[in-house]
Amino acid sequence: MKNILITGASGFIGSFLVEEALKRGYRTFAGIRSSSSKGYLNHPDLHLFEMDFSNKEKLQNQLRKNAEIFGPFDVVVHSAGLTKSRVLDEYYKVNLHNTERLVDALIELEMVPARFVFLSSLASYGPGVGKTPVAETNMQAPITAYGKSKLAAEQMLATKNQFPFVIVHPTTVYGPREKDLLVLIQSLNQHLELYIGNTAQQLSFIHVADVCKAVFLSIDKPIVARNILLSDTANYTAKEFNNMVKAVLGKKTLPIVVPVPIAKAAAQVSEWVGNLRGVTPVLNKERLKEFQAPNWAVDATVLKQWGFLPDFPLQKGLEHTIDWYKKNGWIKG
Ligand SMILES: NC(=O)c1ccc[n+]([C@@H]2O[C@H](COP(=O)([O-])OP(=O)(O)OC[C@H]3O[C@@H](n4cnc5c(N)ncnc54)[C@H](OP(=O)(O)O)[C@@H]3O)[C@@H](O)[C@H]2O)c1
Repeated sequence: MKNILITGASGFIGSFLVEEALKRGYRTFAGIRSSSSKGYLNHPDLHLFEMDFSNKEKLQNQLRKNAEIFGPFDVVVHSAGLTKSRVLDEYYKVNLHNTERLVDALIELEMVPARFVFLSSLASYGPGVGKTPVAETNMQAPITAYGKSKLAAEQMLATKNQFPFVIVHPTTVYGPREKDLLVLIQSLNQHLELYIGNTAQQLSFIHVADVCKAVFLSIDKPIVARNILLSDTANYTAKEFNNMVKAVLGKKTLPIVVPVPIAKAAAQVSEWVGNLRGVTPVLNKERLKEFQAPNWAVDATVLKQWGFLPDFPLQKGLEHTIDWYKKNGWIKG
């Protein structure tokens, strides 16, 4: 039985990766913090593995002790990451420095796994130039601190000789349990269809089950590429996406175009309110940069050559997700 560690197992994608690893017969270790929610981590065969990324010695001890009992990890999928923060330095602390601490610990303990999959993001490439979809060969030019911190981690990985890493770059991931796109779907459900500015936006999406499928492809296949962009292999305008959601919800809406200066002011206010409440709001100035960028389309040539076919094209994925939201009371039917 092969050992797999999935960090960030308490998160949206991590919780699905854990389920997929168990289905595939791995002895599965869910890397969590003491404070992490274990709500989706209750499979009887799952090993919860507490990790302290902030302290090199503690992390090494945790890895060493686990290996003494179960043997080293054959595969590590590093999904722990910070996707929203009110403090920009935090992105680097978590996405770069924690990743480096984990990689160094594995190297120093001579526990280098057969494969290390790093969950980066399309954000580390930044939006496409003009109307051309983003491809793996593009020069990486992230526009947010989040994207820059992921790119810094990728550059760090490239300096680790003989470390068998693959970097997957999902575009927007959606599916059951997801809470950010949920806000947009909830607003469409309430007949409100918002656009920021008049530029038609190109978007791409991938269902969480397909992220898992691609991650396990990146484990099972020989390394053919270090960087792989993940999408459902199609691209959509924002309007096409909203129309699909509305059709699944069976709702009509009132489209409203919010001028960019008003969206910027709203993001500022939302940040102030977030700071007062001690939470990171979905709309903030960093996120607005992503919402405004006109081209998040993905060139899926490498993904297709790699043998990937999505189980959830967007229409089917939205039906599946909205059905889950309804059954779980996250949106009203
Ligand atoms: N969702 C997307 O659309 C998307 C798109 C592209 C790439 N990604 C990448 O995919 C990965 C997973 O994303 P997600 O959507 O599942 O995010 P998520 O739901 O926010 O989960 C993040 C996970 O990382 C853990 N984490 C955060 N800060 C940590 C720290 N300082 N120390 C240890 N663990 C920490 C969280 O643990 P706690 O539960 O303890 O907070 C949680 O398990 C991330 O690396 C993200 O950048 C996501």
